[in-house]
Amino acid sequence: MAKTKTAFFCQNCGTQYAKWVGQCSGCKEWNTVVEEVVQKEEKSSWKTPSNTAKKVSKPLRVNEINTERELRLDTYDLEFNNVLGGGIVPGSLILLGGEPGIGKSTLLLQIALKLPYKTLYVSGEESQKQIKMRADRIHPNSDNCYILTETKTQNIFQQIEATEPDIVVIDSIQTLHSDYIESAAGSISQIRECTAELIKFAKETNTPVILIGHITKDGTIAGPKILEHMVDTVLQFEGDRNYVYRILRALKNRFGSTAELGIYEMQGSGLREVNNPSEILISKNDEGLSGTAIASTVEGMRPLMIEIQALVSTAVYGTPQRSTTGYNAKRLNMLLAVLEKRAGFKLGAKDVFLNITGGISVDDPAIDLAVVAAILSSNEDIYIDKGVCFAAEIGLAGEIRPVQRVEQRILEAEKLGFSTIYVSKNNKITLKNTKIKIELVAKIEDIASSLFD
Ligand code: TYD
Ligand code: MG
Repeated sequence: MAKTKTAFFCQNCGTQYAKWVGQCSGCKEWNTVVEEVVQKEEKSSWKTPSNTAKKVSKPLRVNEINTERELRLDTYDLEFNNVLGGGIVPGSLILLGGEPGIGKSTLLLQIALKLPYKTLYVSGEESQKQIKMRADRIHPNSDNCYILTETKTQNIFQQIEATEPDIVVIDSIQTLHSDYIESAAGSISQIRECTAELIKFAKETNTPVILIGHITKDGTIAGPKILEHMVDTVLQFEGDRNYVYRILRALKNRFGSTAELGIYEMQGSGLREVNNPSEILISKNDEGLSGTAIASTVEGMRPLMIEIQALVSTAVYGTPQRSTTGYNAKRLNMLLAVLEKRAGFKLGAKDVFLNITGGISVDDPAIDLAVVAAILSSNEDIYIDKGVCFAAEIGLAGEIRPVQRVEQRILEAEKLGFSTIYVSKNNKITLKNTKIKIELVAKIEDIASSLFD
């Protein structure tokens, strides 16, 4: 029998050590290094079929390389296609990460059920019956989707050879284990080995593989960081579990941009693609409510109108509370300080709560002006006209700064029927014949006088 070999791995970043250490020198985390059994063998459970003769690659000029095989597979899901940059590239490995219960399995099962090609959905987490129940809720009939409940890669590859699917979905990489590694499923060395086997399979057969990956508490994909380097595309599915909206974004994409973003709504019958997100993110109130302001933001390539709500009230305790949902709390503190110093609003003894509706979180600085407007509106208890929206950043001197792609924001606001948009005086705007009134403002004081006088 082969001697059992062990090595120590950091569970956070995957750095390997010969002996135990308290702090990982790779990522500086404490107590993350654990011993795992490894058995180095130059084997992989995916065996190249004998009919694919070993190719020896030779250098080619860039324009000689045949890109025909890079035709993308349509996923029949507009948002998913967009985020991937136009569809799935054959032979690519896609990793989809997200918090538990956010809807990763639902999304991929839904896509698998819609595809006209043969798909194999391998689940190590749920039984075939459970998956069938879910499939019934989403899309009752599909002739092309095969469900396999298996966690051993050797068996999975056997079934793949028998079924010959066009796409393979693995739910999840943390449940897989390979016979060639002795440590438990979900450990660093298992994840690495199983991914390597799947990559070998994907590249040799030109079959795309989509992996589901769990994420850790701090939001990174569980397992070694190198997992993210090994795959071609890393997608993240995110959202607040208490809300229905989910956002799909690419963190890495070898075949497209990472700026695209997909929005879904979780319904009783699966996920619905949201093609015009602005309409759903703005609450439809007819009566004017103080403390709300609309920002025109850009997520990825897409303009998005979001509603910001603020509540300013007298602090009950000595230290005023500042609390935010979907917005950076430090940025809020900064804006409050700017309001106090540059515009003379005494907010130091007030509680300030800020909320971006719809459960999404935004870090576009262009929503600063809307945040300030919402705070002032709540503080003065005067509502902002429903037809008004904002797109500008605020600087420390209280100046209103220009933002990128302002024209796209203006056009989106106009499309949705807004009558006025406040932007920075320093933004160069060449738009002509717009119905929307473009208010140019330079300083934070201007906005207060313009809105509330
Ligand atoms: P799931 O895909 O199991 O999440 P993950 O794989 O990321 O852990 O999604 C689970 C949640 O989605 C669950 O709380 C129920 C909800 N859901 C719906 O609201 N509608 C549906 O049609 C389905 C299938 C799930
Ligand atoms: Mg799941």
